[in-house]
Amino acid sequence: MKRFLKIVALLVGCLLAFIVYVQLTYNRKFTAPPTGITARTDSASIARGRYIVKGPAHCWTCHAPKTTALKAGMHPSERDMMGGVEFKTPVATFYTPNITPDKETGIGRFTDDQVARAIRYGVNHSNDALAPFMMFQSMNDEDLTAVVSYLRATKPVHNEVPARDLNLLGKIISRFMLEPNLAPEVMPAIAPDTTAHYGNYIVEAMANCRSCHTKRDKASGKFIGEPFAGGNEMENETESGGTFVTPNLTPDSTTGRIYTWTSEQFVARFKLGHGPEGSHMPWEAYAQMTDNDLKAIYKFLKTLTPVQNKVERTFIPKEN
Ligand code: HEC
Ligand code: HEC
Repeated sequence: MKRFLKIVALLVGCLLAFIVYVQLTYNRKFTAPPTGITARTDSASIARGRYIVKGPAHCWTCHAPKTTALKAGMHPSERDMMGGVEFKTPVATFYTPNITPDKETGIGRFTDDQVARAIRYGVNHSNDALAPFMMFQSMNDEDLTAVVSYLRATKPVHNEVPARDLNLLGKIISRFMLEPNLAPEVMPAIAPDTTAHYGNYIVEAMANCRSCHTKRDKASGKFIGEPFAGGNEMENETESGGTFVTPNLTPDSTTGRIYTWTSEQFVARFKLGHGPEGSHMPWEAYAQMTDNDLKAIYKFLKTLTPVQNKVERTFIPKEN
């Protein structure tokens, strides 16, 4: 009995020591290499940045609260990116930072390089690893410069955002698993055209189609299905409930969602600008892409290896 108690005491002691260890060390700091990015003030750079932020990279869908009222005729992408949008996960509550140039609560406090490092490496202004919400690691220097230039040119909005709140599991993940990518494969400069090559760049460096249209493990978020073959399930968080299942975007003749679509139909579908209510796909942002960019994406998707993966329905209503 005494021996048993000793073992229990030892185990409890180890567990407590582990918790204390995690509490003391979860906040790891990472030294990301400088990006060399400096904002520009010429109108071409700002216009390019505006296009990326509002269209393919859909920054505002996470950084602009939906609660700000829309003035008549105002597109939702015109909302200020003042942050504070809450993302609840089983391990933490994250809040999107204020990315307007406000000097007290926004990116006005940070250098161009600090802003650029968040996007390229996933390391924030105080050298913490960011949770993997943003998949822009491969965006080239030109476009990253344009994005930072545009953010600098937006209207500053004072809005203090709470720091992220990690629970014990979140701290354990932060201590042992959450790592930034400090050596991403940055794509070379590329001129926009309607080729599959350019479509590949938009899809991988900005639009992030892969992360929703590939089956993922629910707990870890790891990709477990063939890229772009769909089948990823996502809860409908609006009142109507139910589950969305992403369609297969590969050109498989029997199960590919867009196999029979022409390029014109694909462009028209995106220009419609919305999906079913509650769909996670940022349709309103993508609708702002140029026809040429959409044609390039279509061409790129047609070059993928066809994968047979039948997605019966893209929405499964809640059972009553
Ligand atoms: C899918 C949602 C989402 C999208 C899209 C998104 N962000 Fe973020 N962003 C976040 C979240 C969430 C955080 C904070 C994560 C954390 O605390 O670990 C963040 C953090 C940041 C930071 C770090 C700021 C700091 O404190 O150092 C910057 C800068 C940023 N985002 C800019 C952008 C830009 C620019 C774009 C578009 C090119 C963008 N974001 C698109 C969700 C998003
Ligand atoms: C945040 C998750 C998310 C991202 C990012 C995303 N999708 Fe989707 N997509 C969905 C979901 C969920 C559906 C099913 C519901 C719907 O139609 O909106 C869908 C549906 C589709 C459809 C079928 C539409 C129809 O009318 O049948 C196409 C085509 C599509 N996505 C292409 C893309 C492309 C191309 C990209 C990148 C430019 C992309 N998606 C990015 C989640 C996403």
